[in-house]
Amino acid sequence: MTLCTKFVELNKKQHDRKNFGCGVGQLDDFLQTKASNHREQKISKTMVLPATKPAASTNLHPIQAFYTTTQTTIERKTLSAAVAKALPNYPIPVFIIPCLAVDKKLQGQGIGKAALILALEEFYHASTNGISGIGVVIDPIDKKADAIYRKFGFETLTANRLFLGMGTVEELFNS
Ligand SMILES: CC(C)(COP(=O)(O)OP(=O)(O)OC[C@H]1O[C@@H](n2cnc3c(N)ncnc32)[C@H](O)[C@@H]1OP(=O)(O)O)[C@@H](O)C(=O)NCCC(=O)NCCS
Repeated sequence: MTLCTKFVELNKKQHDRKNFGCGVGQLDDFLQTKASNHREQKISKTMVLPATKPAASTNLHPIQAFYTTTQTTIERKTLSAAVAKALPNYPIPVFIIPCLAVDKKLQGQGIGKAALILALEEFYHASTNGISGIGVVIDPIDKKADAIYRKFGFETLTANRLFLGMGTVEELFNS
């Protein structure tokens, strides 16, 4: 597969969703059967890293990695007392990365890190353009993913959810 370094929005007429495999069936299934529909329904947006050349067998570009972004809400009671006291007692908007995955053949080469930075950059721009969100949440699928996100400063929010405050995201891109 010829490596490409630019993420673009998923286009099912150009990108080969079927042959993507990251080792986590739930994420492969999302890309293959739901991501495109969710974009049409305005539920979430999926960005993919396509191989430069299409495969001869499908004439579609293999997908090397993908990430999905959208928004959700969290409750004040899930936040630390220090943060929570300044917030209203109704659902609070946050950005979320529901999916992030790299094809098995390409894992461990920095692509996952690049995808995470791009997702955070999207949220940074959304925030500076007036879209509200007090931070970013992510639900790591296993201990490996949990360890990777913690390297970026994500901290425990609830049992299976990590949180990164918008202030930290801004510092990342303002500096
Ligand atoms: C998790 C995943 C997205 C990471 O992508 P990747 O391209 O393999 O990871 P990268 O090479 O970009 O590494 C990112 C960072 O994590 C670190 N890392 C990699 N594996 C790790 C592990 N097992 N434990 C701790 N850190 C690890 C890397 O060292 C790197 O940090 P560094 O820049 O400080 O060295 C990828 O392995 C994957 O798709 N896994 C299957 C699906 C999945 O678990 N997705 C997460 C859903 S929540």
